[in-house]
Amino acid sequence: MAGSTTLTIVKPDAFGSGKAGKIIAHLEQGGFRVVAARVLHMTEAQAGAFYEVHKERPFYGSLVKFMTSGPCMPMVLEKDNAVLGLRDAIGATDPAEAVDGTVRKLFAESKERNAIHASDSDENAAREARFFFSEAELIAAR
Ligand code: CMP
Repeated sequence: MAGSTTLTIVKPDAFGSGKAGKIIAHLEQGGFRVVAARVLHMTEAQAGAFYEVHKERPFYGSLVKFMTSGPCMPMVLEKDNAVLGLRDAIGATDPAEAVDGTVRKLFAESKERNAIHASDSDENAAREARFFFSEAELIAAR
């Protein structure tokens, strides 16, 4: 595998409204390569565990409810400096503050229903990739 990897999720708002294809095309245009992908409808336990770091935040309950409201699409993406590159490509958490041309500016509805997730560090990218994909799948993607 050429570059480094990061974990993204096309969230239930974007997946449910048929925007996954456009978002993947946009990311591929930006030089990212999909090395693993799946579709799943997360349980409360899964979404709660994935966002455990936000457990004390006031929006945690609502976030878990949103992330379990329909199917989503986790993917491992590869590119040089993938973590930073993807955070730039998706834009600010709140689409109202996102730069033109970013995924959230183009496809997100609100601060919570913000179309896409991206890992915030290499360490979390590895943890989050392992959350959704087996070790065998990640080895095969190398
Ligand atoms: P994400 O990058 O996946 O990380 C945590 C998520 O929590 C974030 O995207 C949003 O979906 C959600 N979130 C963050 N801040 C807020 C907020 N102030 N109100 C509601 N949801 C939020």
